Amino acid sequence: MKKIVAVNCSPRTAWNTATLVREAAKGAEEHGAQIEVIDLYKLEKFTGCVSCFGCKLPQNLGKCICRDGLAPVLDAIRNADGLIIGSPNYLGDMTAGFRALFERLIFQALTYKTEFRSHNEKQIPVLMIMTSNASEDYYAQIGYDAMLQRYQGSFNTFVGPTRILISSDTLQVKDYSRYDWTMFDPEHKKQRHETVFPEDQKKALALGTQMVAGPWKSV
Ligand SMILES: Cc1cc2nc3c(=O)[nH]c(=O)nc-3n(C[C@H](O)[C@H](O)[C@H](O)COP(=O)(O)O)c2cc1C
Repeated sequence: MKKIVAVNCSPRTAWNTATLVREAAKGAEEHGAQIEVIDLYKLEKFTGCVSCFGCKLPQNLGKCICRDGLAPVLDAIRNADGLIIGSPNYLGDMTAGFRALFERLIFQALTYKTEFRSHNEKQIPVLMIMTSNASEDYYAQIGYDAMLQRYQGSFNTFVGPTRILISSDTLQVKDYSRYDWTMFDPEHKKQRHETVFPEDQKKALALGTQMVAGPWKSV
């Protein structure tokens, strides 16, 4: 049975990102996979890479040795047949939690060798999900496409072939009238949440299934 690890890197555990991560995991489960869903912000305290270089010592090659809240997540990914990872866009990038996991996951695999780049023996399919307030129409202009491509490149090289699912122009809060915000049209946000977001959920479900059923290649 295939094992799929699904990581929600949003501090909110029932909102946009968490919903799509869970939907993708459900798609994988419906196709017979064993799934493990992890809410990153519920874990024990963790940090990004602390530059100990333990993972570059001959006895630990490819393995982060920092034993904090992320250690079981890295272990689960190491034993998984697929990774679903989702994050909201925070200030033009992924969340700090995503970054911490990304640093540890990628750096442990990366070699400082000219002969080969990665210590990972196997490649696994990766689905990277990002949700954002901004509309996808602006992604090229505001650098989000380039940012996503950079992450995709790193995942492709050090984890496995990576596909991206975007859910943009999301509903950020239930009741916009409570806040002194002038940028948004609450009606538009609500309508999008009711019409477009369910379509994004369907895409997540289908991609989760495809991760298990294949074929899967970086697009
Ligand atoms: C601290 C913070 C920073 C954010 N920065 C951006 C941003 O730069 N661009 C953007 O499009 N959305 C930004 N957002 C909005 C979120 O990306 C968006 O609402 C997302 O769908 C939230 O995901 P969640 O519902 O899973 O928490 C930000 C939200 C927060 C809380």
